[in-house]
Amino acid sequence: MDDSYYYGEDGLRCEDVVLSEIAGSVGTPTYVYSYGALEKAYREIDEAFSGLDHMVCYAVKANSNLSVLHALASFGAGADIVSGGELYRAMKAGFDPKKVVFAGVGKTEDELVAGLGERILLFNVESASELEHLERFAARHGKRARVSLRVNPDVHPETHAHVSTGHGASKFGIPVEEALALAERVGEYRCVDLIGVHQHIGSQITKLAPYAESVEKSAQLVDELKHRGFDIKYFNIGGGLGIRYKDEEAPSPRELVDAIRPILEALGTGGTKILCEMGRYIAGNAGVLLTRVIYRKRSGGKNFLVADAGMNDLLRPSLYDAYHEVRPVQDGAAAVPADLVGPVCESGDYLARDRDLPDAAEGDLLALMSAGAYGFSMASNYNSRPRPAEVLVKGDRWAVVREREHLADLVKGELVPAFL
Ligand code: LLP
Repeated sequence: MDDSYYYGEDGLRCEDVVLSEIAGSVGTPTYVYSYGALEKAYREIDEAFSGLDHMVCYAVKANSNLSVLHALASFGAGADIVSGGELYRAMKAGFDPKKVVFAGVGKTEDELVAGLGERILLFNVESASELEHLERFAARHGKRARVSLRVNPDVHPETHAHVSTGHGASKFGIPVEEALALAERVGEYRCVDLIGVHQHIGSQITKLAPYAESVEKSAQLVDELKHRGFDIKYFNIGGGLGIRYKDEEAPSPRELVDAIRPILEALGTGGTKILCEMGRYIAGNAGVLLTRVIYRKRSGGKNFLVADAGMNDLLRPSLYDAYHEVRPVQDGAAAVPADLVGPVCESGDYLARDRDLPDAAEGDLLALMSAGAYGFSMASNYNSRPRPAEVLVKGDRWAVVREREHLADLVKGELVPAFL
């Protein structure tokens, strides 16, 4: 649990605000984010790179709430985006387009053109076809495209299969040998400048060795490209640094950077700036999901706590069997072996399974910890459930930064045609 969350006399707090006060006023389920925790995590990463010419880009997908983005932009972060929608959010939140990098295997024409229009820092190109398209659209719109090649270093990050990207058989990136051939083709393009190398091998990485190995491999590509006359100004090591959800021993940003510092320093001496694009590390432990127990029941010899939050609000347990610590908002509850489940009509709808959970009574509040990354951003309206409210806390102040959806939001844009 991040130290922005702690128990006071009046129960669990986020910074100086009592969580039951937020739940009482805004209702549940509600995501709560700590401004202080976001800032601390961002600065920790930034400081780990000190002495190196670098920029920390925040991976918008982890938590794309406008206020969260606004806070990150104000700390000086860049933004790592993967869609036109994230570009729109990043621009609205005040990120400098010169600090925006655009990744993704399937960027559409509209998205590429939008990025060109904003003159973003870099397109992280993932295939020969994408490069060809980018050249064509840049020429058509009279723009230049600054490009990084996303290389696939073929290293297994030793994390969950759904969030592994840097091994050979993944859809992401370009194999090292092909990257060299592709670079040679860039010479034929008039509107594309190849000035970067990018990699990202996966998410929730808790082992240093594969990360360091991948950086070493990709850095060799930077050297080779420079040797062939390309002015590689940027090397993006990706995101992926893991956090502690339960008892994981995840390396700190400083441990990660120190493990690869000689490589990065050598690149820096050669005029290459280091980028990274962390999402989870910045937002993960800064957020919790507040939920209320609606019912308790026993079935098949098991105890169930039925909460008002479900898989549509926090998908990670159902999708990845992910562990989120469950804390009582009022301290002191004994433990009970139980499942914490949601109201969604799927047996995969659970927030915690076969666990010792707080022995919460009906009406009690629980907090699902470490839910700041890939929580709200993966929420859906499944079962026609309005998405939760989001609240940002800063010191003793707090504000709703996204209203709970209304029923009318559920049918927004839906039309019944005249032939019905
Ligand atoms: N850069 C690229 C190209 C990425 O694909 C990702 C995440 C990141 C950066 C940021 O990674 P981070 O620092 O947050 O690990 N929904 C999953 C995680 C999916 C990650 C997708 N890519 C989860 O809830 O665990």
